[in-house]
Amino acid sequence: MPANTTALDNFWMPFTANRQFKAAPRLLAEAEGMYYRSDDGRRVLDGTAGLWCVNAGHGRREIAEAVGEQLRTLDYAPTFQMGHPIAFRFAERLGEIAPAGLDRIFFTNSGSEAVDTALKIAVAYQRAIGQGTRTRFIGRERGYHGVGFGGISVGGLVNNRRVFPTLPGTDHLRHTHDPVRNAFSQDLPEHGAELADDLERLVGLHGAETIAAVIVEPMAGSTGVLLPPKGYLERLREIATRHGILLIFDEVITGFGRLGTPFATEKFGVQPDIVTTAKAITNGAVPMGAVFCARGVHDALMQGPESAIELFHGYTYSGHPVACAAGMATLDIYAREGLLTRAAELEAYWKEAVFSLRGLPTITDIRAIGLVAGIELASREGAPGSRAYDVFTDCFQRGLLIRVTGDIIALSPPLIAEKAEIDTMIEMLRETIKATA
Ligand SMILES: Cc1ncc(COP(=O)(O)O)c(C=O)c1O
Repeated sequence: MPANTTALDNFWMPFTANRQFKAAPRLLAEAEGMYYRSDDGRRVLDGTAGLWCVNAGHGRREIAEAVGEQLRTLDYAPTFQMGHPIAFRFAERLGEIAPAGLDRIFFTNSGSEAVDTALKIAVAYQRAIGQGTRTRFIGRERGYHGVGFGGISVGGLVNNRRVFPTLPGTDHLRHTHDPVRNAFSQDLPEHGAELADDLERLVGLHGAETIAAVIVEPMAGSTGVLLPPKGYLERLREIATRHGILLIFDEVITGFGRLGTPFATEKFGVQPDIVTTAKAITNGAVPMGAVFCARGVHDALMQGPESAIELFHGYTYSGHPVACAAGMATLDIYAREGLLTRAAELEAYWKEAVFSLRGLPTITDIRAIGLVAGIELASREGAPGSRAYDVFTDCFQRGLLIRVTGDIIALSPPLIAEKAEIDTMIEMLRETIKATA
């Protein structure tokens, strides 16, 4: 395949150092199974399921065929005061695998939209039950909830916030990352459940009657794979319930099998009121998100005159037929290949492989769960992030795609990964970390 000859100027790339990238581009041209192929013809092992989304691996023919067939049958139809069967069928299918009771489903086109939708539903719900003063949202430091104004307001990553105004009436729990007490925990971190009491403190500060919802990632992904301390999510649930605050789990990364259960909710045994999803809902093939709501939340809004629109919210592409077709084909693959629970089968092997990196120079912490790992490196003096970036570019040259955030490496391969591919991934990473130490 000829190397890239395309002009790179016009595409303003997201979350990218555009000028640096365009001076030395990394282009992926094809993908099949566990591998990408770069535009200069090299095989690149996908250590990140694209961007945490290609859980069934690349190039799935069933999805391509379903999408093609749907485009030929019904390319587009609105869902405002109209409907089409596949959107209802897909919602029904999702309802069958939803966390218990969360089977009322609102479609969006991305995780960011799912988050903003969930926040709006929370406020609308509170108003519907006579709690109209509850308009405040609580997020968490280091949380990532996408890039809408709602998402960055409850999010806790400073670079995503510093340039932009955020919603008034948002506040944050402290994050749970505590490497001093919890470094190299092979299980959930022992320490930090008490950090959930921050919600109690914020209730004391703002008044429960002003707070609509608290939103957290059950496992924080984009900030560098932070696992919930033992007992933390249970405590958050208990405090939220006691104060009439809705609990939203952002499962845009953890949804659809990443942790070894269909949703993180089941992995951690904690039941939220709303779950946001996207990414792997269509195996990344077509943009889509979905908000899973408890029946009680949904039903509270199904009041008043039947001719009244209950929620003034929605997207032109909510329940897009092509996305639904991709999603249905994806669920078929997940079911046929057992992928929603495969990470549980691989977890012990995965952890052992990842923890075998312990002891390499510069590694200060390793965290792993399901088929996810975070590997934290010591930052270089005065140049935070540069060490992991070097690992990232070196890995790409060697034929492995990883993801880095600051000086943390995140791994989240497709759930079809075989043990041999896990070994290859870890060995390439080992060589690279040694070389960049
Ligand atoms: C937890 C979480 N929420 C929301 C989002 C935003 O999703 P999207 O990029 O599809 O808008 C992401 C993306 O990584 C995420 O990890």
